Amino acid sequence: MKHIKIANCDLDASEISLGCMRIADMALPDISTLIHTALDEGINFFDHADVYGGGRSEAKFAEALDMNPRLREKMILQSKCGICRDAYDFSKEHILEAVEGSLKRLRTDYLDVLLLHRPDALVEPEEVAEAFTILQSDGKVRYFGVSNQNPMQIELLRRYVKQKIVFNQLQLSITNTGMINAGINVNMEVDGSVDRDGGILDYCRLKDITIQPWSPFQYGFFQGVFLDNEKFPELNQKVNSIAAKYGVTNTGIAIAWLLRHPAHMQPIIGTTNPKRVKDSCQASGITLTRQEWYEIYLAAGNKLP
Ligand SMILES: NC(=O)c1ccc[n+]([C@@H]2O[C@H](COP(=O)([O-])OP(=O)(O)OC[C@H]3O[C@@H](n4cnc5c(N)ncnc54)[C@H](OP(=O)(O)O)[C@@H]3O)[C@@H](O)[C@H]2O)c1
Repeated sequence: MKHIKIANCDLDASEISLGCMRIADMALPDISTLIHTALDEGINFFDHADVYGGGRSEAKFAEALDMNPRLREKMILQSKCGICRDAYDFSKEHILEAVEGSLKRLRTDYLDVLLLHRPDALVEPEEVAEAFTILQSDGKVRYFGVSNQNPMQIELLRRYVKQKIVFNQLQLSITNTGMINAGINVNMEVDGSVDRDGGILDYCRLKDITIQPWSPFQYGFFQGVFLDNEKFPELNQKVNSIAAKYGVTNTGIAIAWLLRHPAHMQPIIGTTNPKRVKDSCQASGITLTRQEWYEIYLAAGNKLP
């Protein structure tokens, strides 16, 4: 497993991360097998959120591993806060409370990374700044980032927050390429030219913010998996033929496609299946050619002007 250079921090992180959104209903021994498989494959970065399984994902993660300081030190633990029932909340009080909850459930004294989960329309960046400074000076959070935020939202935070914004977690997969399409189709009268994110891809590259693609195997918003799906015949034919060339599975190619982007992204895989964790990790040894990257992009139904 290759490690990724993440700007503005000293995290030595695997280039693939395991997301723990879907583990809440798993049996503890299965969670243990999943996480230990990931660790054995070289994944040292685990993504959580206070809201996953209503807190049960974090709690069962720690319980399944019988979390202890020795194991904790081998991991980079990231969690997120700000999503509440029928509201988003980036108030100082909520951020501080949410982190206390995550620390308790994860049985740890500190988070390596805290992300603000989804933009709060009522955000007061001065409050976020206060919360981040308290969390950092108390040693409870080492690094900070955001999720699902556009450039202006990040700029607003950056005006007040002293810490660097290290990550932005965003939806991106072979079949969800809005942030890539807009750049390819600039000024064209086609759907692909619609900029839905304020140019977030180039912004993150300019500001050395590492993008963490979420749902790398899903199409739509959790509509299902595009691999081996008859709705995407051309794409699957293409992915399978490239997979055969490299001697890996289609799962590996879906991740290799994200890793091939020069923004040096860190995909967050959400599988609960140890075999698919291994298949995903095969991507770390593969560099798709430029031609292959574009062939997959086009096979997903995209067009070049
Ligand atoms: N920041 C945000 O707003 C946000 C939003 C969503 C997710 N996330 C993070 O991103 C992580 C990944 O998200 P995700 O779980 O939606 O992503 P994902 O990895 O694209 O999807 C995982 C799901 O797809 C299934 N799957 C994957 N490959 C498959 C295949 N070849 N055939 C059949 N099923 C397959 C998995 O089933 P199996 O478990 O059976 O393999 C699992 O149910 C989450 O865990 C979370 O940490 C962040």
